Amino acid sequence: MNAEKRILQLKGKTTSLSADLSAEEPGPPPWLVLVVDDDPDVIAITRLNLRHFSFGGRALSLVSAASAAQAQEILRNTPGFALGLIDVVMESDDAGLQLVRFIRETLRDQRIRLVIRTGQPGLAPERYVIDHFDIDDYKEKSELSAQKLYTTVRSALKSYRDLTTIDLARHGLETILGAAPQMYLHPLDSFEAFYSGVFTQILGLCHLGEHSSVRIANGFLAMFNKDEITIKAAVGQARLEKTIPPVQENISAKETTIPLRIRNEDIGMLYLEHGQALDPLAVHLLRIFTGQVCVALQSLRVQLELREAHASAIQMLSEAAEAKDIHTGEHIQRIVTLTRQLSLALGLPPATAELYAEASQLHDIGKIGIPDRILNKPGPLDRAEFNEIATHPSIGGLIIKDEKNFRLARQIAMYHHEKWDGNGYPEGLRGEAIPLAARIVSVVDVFDALVHCRPYKRSWSVADAVAEIRRLSGTSFDPAVVAAFGRLYEAGAFDHLDQ
Ligand SMILES: [Fe+2]
Repeated sequence: MNAEKRILQLKGKTTSLSADLSAEEPGPPPWLVLVVDDDPDVIAITRLNLRHFSFGGRALSLVSAASAAQAQEILRNTPGFALGLIDVVMESDDAGLQLVRFIRETLRDQRIRLVIRTGQPGLAPERYVIDHFDIDDYKEKSELSAQKLYTTVRSALKSYRDLTTIDLARHGLETILGAAPQMYLHPLDSFEAFYSGVFTQILGLCHLGEHSSVRIANGFLAMFNKDEITIKAAVGQARLEKTIPPVQENISAKETTIPLRIRNEDIGMLYLEHGQALDPLAVHLLRIFTGQVCVALQSLRVQLELREAHASAIQMLSEAAEAKDIHTGEHIQRIVTLTRQLSLALGLPPATAELYAEASQLHDIGKIGIPDRILNKPGPLDRAEFNEIATHPSIGGLIIKDEKNFRLARQIAMYHHEKWDGNGYPEGLRGEAIPLAARIVSVVDVFDALVHCRPYKRSWSVADAVAEIRRLSGTSFDPAVVAAFGRLYEAGAFDHLDQ
């Protein structure tokens, strides 16, 4: 089914979100211009001469200050001024020049265009001022006719706009380049986490718009899965109940759709609704970014598939072992849960706890090699039988290859019967020479065996079992692991086992 047909399926239940955007939409924001002069007449005439001014479809918003101090206050509190028309002699002979210095050095605003307008050029000679202060133009008030003022303001705003565009492009490309490693190195928890991260970056790109005219109102990142479209990340009120345009690039004044495509296959799309047209730069950056998203997505897909394959391999193996031992029942599932809990209680990161839990499924895989008559014997084992059973960790080590993806499972299978004091088997490892995952599973394994009945014993109460684990701290078990286990018990983590 092609993308268009898939989308048509959704049309029956659509409720356009356009209503969200149809309210009074603000026009593009005006250029902010600051006029600093202690002569109210100069301010009034500037205002009069520029009252119909507009550039690039944007009007002027003229803010005035009667002193350099007042101008500082305004500039500190209001970002985004495009131009300052600044008198020199105000509260002091060089108040305007000091204001220039304040703007460039204290506020570190290199983008605002600054035009000096002086009535007393003798006090601030043009050559000296141009050489020593970071200004863009120098005018004597006497030469500022209405026409000259228009030309000066227009060329200053054009220069500000061009600088802003360069800055935004640089910022946008930095965002894209910065996002790339994050996309590839993102912890592979889920596609959802990936999509949300991507969307955050996309919003960052569109918030390029914060200083320009773009405001994102709604949008989502949708993925196709067979005949369904799933929104993986959204902003604003975007929901699935929406008429989605066909999946081909569509850039209009109010909407932007960019398909996510891997080797000519449409896998999803980025959809944005915006109050005003995205500027061409933002669209260009979005195209570059969505291209990168597609490549990262492909790589993520492959990695997640591999991880899934690995998890199912472990599960299949553990099910094989479980099927052989009629007494273990749900033992393996409980081991997984307890291993996860105990790993977290030891302060291990959740991702590590998950790896330990997954690998713990294979702790008794070696029992596959033990004869059924011993494994399922309905009574206590004699010495020879015990010795036979005690080979299961070594057999486990033979079954699980010493390969990177299975190293943890192999350690657990081989060493979960080692003891902290060195009196365990199969190798008699001592203390921290026993891998941590195996030290954890050994506590969990004994505890679970104690609180459940076996052919040769009744089940213990949780309190008795915990007391036994604590008694064996420092001999059988790592004291730190037992301490964490005790904390879990105190916190009520095993209360349900007594019922
Ligand atoms: Fe075992």
